[in-house]
Amino acid sequence: MISPRSIENVIEAARIEDVVRDFVDLKQRGANLIGLCPFHKEKTPSFSVSPSKNIFKCFGCGKGGTPVHFIMEAEQLTFPEAIRQLAKKYQITLEETNQSETSFEDKQERESLYIINQFTVDFYKNYLWENPIGQSVGLSYFKQRGFLESTIQKFDLGFAPDEPDALMQSALKQGYKIEFLQKLGLVNTHQKDFFRNRVIFPIHNLTGKPIAFAGRTLTTNAKSPKYINSPETELYNKSKTLYGLHLAKKSMRDKNYAILVEGYTDVMSLHQAGIENAVASSGTSLTEEQIQIIKRITSNVTILYDGDPAGIKAATRGIDLLIQEGLDVKIALIPGKEDPDSFIRKIGSEAFELFINKEATDFILFKINLHNQESENNPLKRSVAAKDIVQTIAKVDDPIKRSIYLKQTASILQLDEIHVIESCNKLIKEELKNKMFSERRRALDRDQQILKDLNDDESLPMHIQDISVTSDEIQEKDICRVLMLWGQQWYDETEQISFAQYIIENISDTIPFFENDLIKSIILDVAQQLSNGIVPGVPYYISHENKAIANLALEFTMSKYEFSQNWSDRWNIFLSTQKIPEENFRSDITNSILRFKLKKYNKAILEFEKKIKSSSISDIELEIELKSHQHIVKERNYIATLLKTVVI
Ligand code: UTP
Ligand code: MN
Repeated sequence: MISPRSIENVIEAARIEDVVRDFVDLKQRGANLIGLCPFHKEKTPSFSVSPSKNIFKCFGCGKGGTPVHFIMEAEQLTFPEAIRQLAKKYQITLEETNQSETSFEDKQERESLYIINQFTVDFYKNYLWENPIGQSVGLSYFKQRGFLESTIQKFDLGFAPDEPDALMQSALKQGYKIEFLQKLGLVNTHQKDFFRNRVIFPIHNLTGKPIAFAGRTLTTNAKSPKYINSPETELYNKSKTLYGLHLAKKSMRDKNYAILVEGYTDVMSLHQAGIENAVASSGTSLTEEQIQIIKRITSNVTILYDGDPAGIKAATRGIDLLIQEGLDVKIALIPGKEDPDSFIRKIGSEAFELFINKEATDFILFKINLHNQESENNPLKRSVAAKDIVQTIAKVDDPIKRSIYLKQTASILQLDEIHVIESCNKLIKEELKNKMFSERRRALDRDQQILKDLNDDESLPMHIQDISVTSDEIQEKDICRVLMLWGQQWYDETEQISFAQYIIENISDTIPFFENDLIKSIILDVAQQLSNGIVPGVPYYISHENKAIANLALEFTMSKYEFSQNWSDRWNIFLSTQKIPEENFRSDITNSILRFKLKKYNKAILEFEKKIKSSSISDIELEIELKSHQHIVKERNYIATLLKTVVI
């Protein structure tokens, strides 16, 4: 990890006009400089740089921030990567601190696994390009399918020789351990290569490191599967991986939508044709985790699946999941027996883009059409269709969109609109109740896990009294503090989940009830940034246009060293031991979230008690409320035990 002092040095040294000039031709305009925005297409400049404030801002696309933000955005880098880049530019030596989160050995092992995977990529590539058999069997196969050399290079394709242990021998010669080769699934328990006589598709993570492999057979032997894939390993979690993401992320962001296809070769063909926002769920049906990954980059997805029954089935299942996660979904099925790979080859890239623009329909019309084909004149089938469609519509969050969809459904299926609306409302209520309970449970489970992970239990407060019900502002402010100070730290580096995301997810259900408007606006702003794939850090807040936000950020950064002494005065809670936060920001964040939740739950409990005493609610309502109340009490107490709190 780069030390905070080094980060500050870089931030102080970096001049916005220098940094931007490497990318944009700037002209003086008053106190500012202007130019053509590098982040969106424009003919007249709306991109402005303020040397005095040391920030940039585009009035066309809205992007703006410090020099670090600029580099992150322009080069699609993470915060530490951007800092490193700027350090190089300004010749600043960075001080690295040891990371205490993962032990040195674990880290070393992961590093070794990555190194071996990279070695394997090179080995298979080398065989494909340099070996006569690799060339005549593998390379000519790819070429005959229409892949250009540049595409074959871009996707790191290779060939696994038809030999029992060629990779293993070569890796051992390099000094790599056999256990690691086996751990990665490259060598089996009989000490033979797992991939033999297959063309190889390496699978990369978001940052482009190889984490797994898929091998396609070139024989048409029905006995052996078309593709075999690496097993799940420390580096590779199938359900959290999207094939091609490292190459697609930039275009997904620029075009603000993702194309989802089924296969590796579909992704490759689309990229080759210049459609670079395509990824594949590859070998699994779409998972919730994969959707979360897409969601961090864009909230629009176009599903482009094969038009066969399997493709239709996969597409319909995908729709519900995507909708549920709040994405806007369109679908186009590839006609005939084609898949995107063969189809784009047949009609060319221009016609293909036209096809997407023309054929990609909103999911609801897609579903209605699908049903309509078979249920035209059969009332029973029509009602089954309606039920299925309404179930999907119930998952749409936006009430306005929902009502449009319901109208459409009723009119196309010739059903009574009121009836359709009612059945949808019923489903929503059910869903809401289930969701409330399961979300809380999930958040709490995660908190418990993170608490377990804390290497230093000592730093946990032993006794907290936190029963004042007057105001939640202290806890809200505290959440804002950890968000600003530690948001850019990794909650989970392999999954690329920042603490900002972790915090926002944990408190998202309470955002509407924030008492402090300023803090609420900050939280909403961060949520917005995150959904655009940007994780704001201290410099972002400090240089914020809104003075109140900038001042708050300054207050937090300046006062973080005083926390141990002033903790009890400041936060109105009593701790037996409290470490300086930056020695253990993980526990600082967890505790802050827990204290916040404890406070909110306590408040909910008190408000509930007031409510049942005073108002005249019906028995049924009371019963539902009581059930949810019991849950809240239970969870409040659970949080209290996590915090080792005495609840009075
Ligand atoms: P397809 O059978 O459509 O393969 O499976 P494809 O990608 O079009 O491959 P080509 O064009 O015939 O070479 C779609 C995806 O399902 C997974 C792979 O990820 C594949 O890309 N799959 C398929 C497997 O994992 N194993 C298999 O045996 C088949
Ligand atoms: Mn195919």
